[in-house]
Amino acid sequence: MKTSLKIGELVLSPPVLSAPMADCADWAQREIWRRLGGVGLIETEMISARAFVYMGARGEGDPERLRGVESEPRPLSVQIWDNCPETLERLARRLARDLNVSAVDLNFGCPAPAIAKRSESGSYLLRDPQKVGALVERVANACESVPVTAKIRLGLTEDSINARDVAQAVEGAGGAALTVHGRTASQMYRGEADWGEIAKVKSALRRIPLIGNGDIKTAAGAVERLENYPVDGVMIGRAALERPWIFREIAALLRGETPPPEPTPRERRELLLEHFRLELSKFGDELGVVVARRAAVRYSKGLPNGRAFRDKIGRVRSAPEFLAVVESDFIVDDPTSDSI
Ligand SMILES: Cc1cc2nc3c(=O)[nH]c(=O)nc-3n(C[C@H](O)[C@H](O)[C@H](O)COP(=O)(O)O)c2cc1C
Repeated sequence: MKTSLKIGELVLSPPVLSAPMADCADWAQREIWRRLGGVGLIETEMISARAFVYMGARGEGDPERLRGVESEPRPLSVQIWDNCPETLERLARRLARDLNVSAVDLNFGCPAPAIAKRSESGSYLLRDPQKVGALVERVANACESVPVTAKIRLGLTEDSINARDVAQAVEGAGGAALTVHGRTASQMYRGEADWGEIAKVKSALRRIPLIGNGDIKTAAGAVERLENYPVDGVMIGRAALERPWIFREIAALLRGETPPPEPTPRERRELLLEHFRLELSKFGDELGVVVARRAAVRYSKGLPNGRAFRDKIGRVRSAPEFLAVVESDFIVDDPTSDSI
C-alpha cells in the first residue's frame, strides 16, 4: 500500500492532498482540515500573480488570498496562476524566499472563462506544452530548493487530450510533481473524471510523482484509486468541503485501521461554529458571515433538515443571526440525541 509520497525533499504522509479551490479552500477551511488531520499536503486557493504584482506596485500589500499564509503551519502549498513568466516569477520568489512555503503549484487546469479565455491562463495553456514547460522552468529556477508542481486537466477537449505531452514538458522543465484532474477543460465539471486517462500519464513520467484527482467521494474510494491506478498520490476537492473529516478516514484506512466514526450532527455543528469563528477572526464580521454562509451550506449536506437550514442560513446578514439559525435549525430533532 502506498503510504507516503515525495515531492522534491518534501515527504507527504499519507500521499493525500487537499485540492486548491477558489473561494472555498481559504485560511479557515485549511485550518479545519489541519485540525481534523490526515492531509499529507494542504493547498491554498489559486492566487493571481498579476494581482500580486499590481497590488505591490500600488503599495497595497499582498492579495487577500495570501493573507495568513505567512504564519500558517507548514507543510503548505500555494497555487498561483498567470501566463507571464516574469509575473509568475515575482510571486513565486516571494512565496519561496520570503514566505518559505513548502511548494509552489502552477495552475494549468482552470477552465473558468475569466482565467482561460480572458486571461489566456489556466487550461488555456494546455494547448502549448512548450509554453507550459517554459513557465515551469522559470518558476522552478526562481524557487530554488522549494519544489514547483503543476496541476493540469487531460487536455482542452476530448479530441485534443495531450496530458502526456504536458507531463513531459513539466518534468523536463524541472517540475517536482504533476496533478492530473481527469476531465478536459471543455467538460468543466460535467461527466466523470476519467481515471483510465489519468493512468496513461504515468508512463510519460520518469522521475516525478503523479497525483490523480477527480470525483473521489469517499475514503474507500481514495484507497481504491491508490491501489488500482498507477498514481503516487490522490487529491480531493469537493468531498473534502462537505466532509472535511474524509482525510482522517483515509489515513486510518491506509494504516489498516477502522476509520473513526462519522461526526454526529452535534459534532458537525461544533465544527461549523469553529469554522465560523475562524472566518470571522480573519475577515471581520461582515465578510466573515458571507464566507461562513457558504461553509454552512456544505456542512449541512445530508442532514435531515439540511434543505430548510440552507434556505435560512443563505439569508442571514450578521454574526448573531448566523448563530441563531445554526442554533435553531441545524439540528431539528431532540438536541440531546446524537443520532441523525
Ligand atoms: C469551488 C471550486 C473551486 C476550484 N478552484 C480551483 C483552483 O483555485 N485551482 C485549481 O487548480 N483547481 C480548482 N478547482 C478544481 C479542483 O481543484 C479539483 O481539480 C476538482 O474539483 C476535481 O476534484 P474533486 O472531484 O475532488 O472535487 C476548483 C473546484 C471547485 C469545485
